[in-house]
Amino acid sequence: MLIRVSPQYPIKSSEITSESTYQDRRRFLAQMGLATAGMALAGCSDAKTPPPVAPPSAAGTAATDGAASAELAALDVKTKVNMAGAEKVSSFEDITNYNNFYEFGTGKGEPANYAKKLKTRPWSVAIEGECDAPGMIDLEDLIKPHALEERIYRLRCVEAWSMVIPWVGFPLADLLKRFKPNSKAKFVQFFTLADAEQMPMIKRGVLPYPYREAMRMDEAMHPLAFMVVGLYGKVLPNQNGAPIRLMAPWKYGFKAAKSIVKIKFTETQPETTWNAIGAAEYGFYGNVNPEVDHPRWSQASERRLGELFRKPTLPFNGYPEVAPLYAGMDLRRYY
Ligand code: MTE
Repeated sequence: MLIRVSPQYPIKSSEITSESTYQDRRRFLAQMGLATAGMALAGCSDAKTPPPVAPPSAAGTAATDGAASAELAALDVKTKVNMAGAEKVSSFEDITNYNNFYEFGTGKGEPANYAKKLKTRPWSVAIEGECDAPGMIDLEDLIKPHALEERIYRLRCVEAWSMVIPWVGFPLADLLKRFKPNSKAKFVQFFTLADAEQMPMIKRGVLPYPYREAMRMDEAMHPLAFMVVGLYGKVLPNQNGAPIRLMAPWKYGFKAAKSIVKIKFTETQPETTWNAIGAAEYGFYGNVNPEVDHPRWSQASERRLGELFRKPTLPFNGYPEVAPLYAGMDLRRYY
C-alpha cells in the first residue's frame, strides 16, 4: 500500500495499516469514487460523483437562526462585517451538518454526530519554531486580548460546494504577532488535535494525522486571515473545528485547519496534509481559482448549499484584495 508519510511523521509499527483497515479504506474510496488505478489515496471527494445535495433550507441571517444553536454559549461580538455582499448567509443547519472533519468520519453528516463528545476544555495551544515568545498558551489566554468580530465570509471547498458563513473570531495576524516571529519565520504551520480516543476515524488512517496546514507568513498576516472561535454569534460547534480553527476565505476549505493544538513558525515550506498525499490535486497554496481545474473535476463553478443552481466560482473566492500576495507568480504552477 502506498501512502506517502513525511519522515517528520514516520509510521510506527503500531500504526501500520492492517489488511482489514486497508480493505475498509478501499471500500470507502470506491464509494467516494476515488479509487483510481494506481492511486492509493486521493483527495477530499470527487465532484464527478457529487455528494448528495443537501435539502434546500431557508437561509439564515447572522442575527437569527439561533434556535438550532440554543445550547451553545453566546459570544461577546463587538463588530460585524459582511464580506459576502448580498449573498444569503447559509443556514446554521447546513453549516453544522455538512462538514469535512475526517477525524470524525468521511461522510458529510458524520462529524455532527461523532464530534459531540470532543472535549474542548481545558485546551491549550503550543507555540514553536522561529519566534521569540514560544511556549504553551491556554485557550482562554489566547482569546482574551482580542475583541471578537463577526465576519461573513464565503467558504469554497475544493470539492466544488460552497457556503456563506458568519464566523466569529479575530485577525490571525494579531495573534501571530504576540509570539514575536523572528526574521527566519517565512511560513506558519498549524497542527490539529489527533486523539484516537476521541476521534474514531484516526485509527482508520484515511489521512496521516495530525492534520497539518500552513501558509506563507505574508499570507497569514493578511487582514482577511481569521482565527475562528465561533459562528452565528455562538461558540464554535465541535464539528466546525472547536475550539479554534483557521479561515482564509480566499483559499479552499482544506487550508482551514480545525481544532488547532500547535502553531509553528518555520523557515522552509512545511508539509501540509492534503498536499503531502496528493500534490497534483491539492496545491500548497490552495487558492480558489476557477481557471485551474482539479485533475478530476472543473473548478469553474460551484454548488452553493441551499441553492438550486450552480454559480460561477470567483478568483480568490471573490477576495481580489489578496492578489498582490501572488504578484509575479504563475498561479497555474503555484496552485
Ligand atoms: N481540519 C481537520 N482537522 N480535519 C479535516 O478533515 N477538513 C478540511 C477543513 N479543516 C478538515 C479540517 C476541509 S476539506 C474543509 S472543506 C473544511 O475544514 C470544512 O469546514 P466546515 O466543515 O466547517 O465547513
